[in-house]
This record gives sequence, structure tokens and C-alpha cells, in this order.
Amino acid sequence: MSKFPKEFLWGGATAANQYEGAYNVGGKGLSVQDVTPRGGIPVSDNDLNPFITELPTEDNLKLEGIDFYHRYKEDVALFAEMGFKVFRTSIAWSRIFPNGDELEPNEEGLQFYDNLFDELAKYGIEPLVTLSHYETPLHLARKYNGWVNRDLIGFYERYVRTVFNRYKNKVKYWLTFNEINSVLHVPFISGGIATPVEKLSKQDLYQAVHHELVASALATKVGHEINPGFKIGCMVLAMPTYPMTPKPEDVLAAREFENQNYLFSDIHARGKYPKYIQRFFKENDINIKFESGDKELLAENTVDFISFSYYMSSVQAHDPENYQSGIGNLLGGIANPYLESSEWGWQVDPIGLRIVLNNLYDRYQLPLFIVENGLGAKDVLIEGADGPTVDDDYRIDYLKKHLQQVGEAIEDGVELLGYTTWGCIDLVSASTAQMSKRYGFIYVDRNDDGSGTLNRYKKKSFYWYKEVIESNGETLYD
Ligand code: BG6
Repeated sequence: MSKFPKEFLWGGATAANQYEGAYNVGGKGLSVQDVTPRGGIPVSDNDLNPFITELPTEDNLKLEGIDFYHRYKEDVALFAEMGFKVFRTSIAWSRIFPNGDELEPNEEGLQFYDNLFDELAKYGIEPLVTLSHYETPLHLARKYNGWVNRDLIGFYERYVRTVFNRYKNKVKYWLTFNEINSVLHVPFISGGIATPVEKLSKQDLYQAVHHELVASALATKVGHEINPGFKIGCMVLAMPTYPMTPKPEDVLAAREFENQNYLFSDIHARGKYPKYIQRFFKENDINIKFESGDKELLAENTVDFISFSYYMSSVQAHDPENYQSGIGNLLGGIANPYLESSEWGWQVDPIGLRIVLNNLYDRYQLPLFIVENGLGAKDVLIEGADGPTVDDDYRIDYLKKHLQQVGEAIEDGVELLGYTTWGCIDLVSASTAQMSKRYGFIYVDRNDDGSGTLNRYKKKSFYWYKEVIESNGETLYD
């Protein structure tokens, strides 16, 4: 008997800026990603800011991505062959509104997503669409300083109204902002905020957060008006946090760290700012400016479900300087001596996924959706019986262990809508801008220097995932 519900949505996830390519085709404007230098998001956002006044260079692998824009039919057919029930992608905001502040959308951009959603429908694959995945139109960063400026709420509203109306009969599942809590860590990439990090005041940063939260609630309201059948969720970067020791000071440090993330899901799910953040605001001289109607908007438009990415857990202590620090997905922490790490230093913790599922469900009693999880690894293409392939047992092992913990969480009582692995087809890494940090079931022949045929090859994990989906998770226990 499968532990997974009958309607469980198995699939894969991507983001426009990391795989579409065609950055200047079909009337698309530039996004903050198009000016990211090779090497991806530097540890500090500061290094990026000089680039916002420059044009993209050929050096940026994201400009061409894996050319999904021209090859989507071939790729969707491969997803269908694996048996995907759902496919997560984002709409590139700057394909629809090239500058972000125009009054009229770009028809060619809208048509591209019509074609993509029609192609998915041919195979009965449900789209799951992120409205903003680290790809704010560059003009909004340059002219308005991104989400620090309240005007962005209006521009975002116009954009989401346009796509909600256009795709109201093609898309049911929507996510308002990818990893919305990441704006605290990478304000340029996540929030289009051009002010260099060292000059950005906490007041401006948290005001930008407020604007995004209001925009997210507004999108939920508008979406439900346009189609009451829409399921609209928030998306957070989830990281269960362990104290380094049972010392109460360390437990408190872990709790405080975790609250920085809960802030975002709390407001989305409960419709108001939590009490614990008031003290932080007071001690840091932060006064969020609410305009009339904001409070009601947040309260009346909570999300239908909570989605999240999960790659790793974090360890915190009150005296972190006394420990070796770990490398992580945007949010840091202390290295966990009990866990192994990926080739990029991200610590692997399948049980952490069960913990985070239980924590979130217990806190909100709302359906959850795991919309990112996976292993970035170096793959070696070999000649197989049916042509080039990759023996990626390490990826199978990683996903299997995580999915087994998902099964445990479901048995614990967690209500889970689905699971989409990150980068189901190899794409350009967000943090390092490398092709060689591969997550996919499908190998894409492109190298870090930009060379390659862009041909697609099925890895061993392709066949493995196909069986997992076919058996609704039963083969995870063979
Ligand atoms: C998530 C992002 O944080 O992590 C994705 O939403 C990203 O865009 C993924 O690609 C994996 O990170 P990376 O840096 O390995 O690409």
C-alpha cells in the first residue's frame, strides 16, 4: 500500500531565468538575472550592484539557459514520459511587461506561455506557476529601487491580473514569490533592491518585505476573484534549525533564527504580523509604514497552501564564532558534525525534511507542497546501451532518502499536495551560475564555458523517477 495519497502531484520544478534562455527574444525586457555576472550570486549582493547599470555580457550562462524557449516541446514530452502530474515553472515577468511599469503587456510573451501550457495540457500535466522567481524586471530595480518602493505593488498587481486573466482556464496552482524570505539575504536578486547591502537600512529592507507581503495578499485576492477555483500559495525557503547544544542559550538562538523564516509563512497563513517580530522591530528602530487597507488585505487574503524549498537544515548557537561555519542555500549556519555534504558543501539531511513538514503542518494546518528539493552534483556522461547517459546513483540515493521521509511525514498526518524536484532538467545554477551543478533527470549538453550541443540525454534517475511515479511511491520501499 502506498503511503502517498492517490491524487499526489509528482513532478519537477524550474525557473524561467535559469532555463528559458532567449533573454532578448519575443520582446522580452531585461531582468535582474540578465546582468548577473558569471559566477552567479556572490556571497554579498554588493558585487552585483555595479552591473545594474551595464548591459548583459555573453559571459552570463543564464542568457541562453538551456534554450527551453525553443525546445519546450521536446522537454515537455520527456517530462510526460516520466509520468509527471505537475510541472513547476515561473513566468518571466519581463516577458510580459518588459520594463515592468508599462500599461500594456507584450503579446508575444503571453503567447509563449499559452503555447507552453497547451503543450502541458496535451499530456495532462498540471502547471504550477511562480509569478516572481528572482527575475524582477531590471528597469524596476534601476528606476524604483525594487520592492523598497511601494509603486511596485501596483506594477505587480497589473502583471498578475494580466496573467491570471489570460491563463484562468489553463493554470490552477500559483505561487506569489519564490523563497520570499530570501529578500533578507539577497535583496537585489530577490527583491530588485539596487541599494548595496552595506548601505541598505533595516527600515528600508523590512518596508520592502511589507510591500511584497501586501502584494502577495493582493495577488491572492485578485486571483480568487478572477477564478475562485485557483489555489494560491506562498513559497518559502525552509530550513529546520537545530541548536548546537542543549544549552538554553543555543536553543533560543535556534528559535530566533527560525522565527526570521516563520515571519513570512505566519503572515501568509495567519494574516497578521506575529507578536515576536514587534520586539525585533523596536530594538532595531524599524517602523513599518502601513497604508490604509493593508491590515485588512493581509487578514482577509491568507493563502490556500504553503509551499517551500528544502535542501538542508541549519545549526545555530549563541556563540557561532566558536564553531566551524557551514555553507548553505542563502541562509547560513554552523556545520553539522552528523551530516555529510554535497560537492558544493550543502549538508544532506533527509530527516530534516520530515521535521520541517511536521513543523509547518502543525503550525498552520494548511496543505503543504514541496516545490524544490534535490542534489546539485557533477555528472559524467557515458556511452550506454541506448546512447549517452549518466549513472547518477548518488542522485537516486538522495531523492529516495528524502522521499522516504516524506512518506513518514504523510504517515505522521501531514497533508501534502505534491513534490517537485528542483531542476528536473539540468539548468543554470542560481547561486553559482554553473551548468556543472546539475540537478536533473535529463542531462543537457552544455558546459560551464558555454560550449555544447544542448542535446538532451536521459540519466539513470530518469527511469528511476518514472517508476516511483508509476507506483505512486511504492518502489521507494523495494
Ligand atoms: C533555490 C532557488 O534557492 O535553490 C532556485 O529557488 C535554485 O532558483 C535552487 O536554483 C538551487 O540552488 P543552486 O544555487 O544550486 O542553483
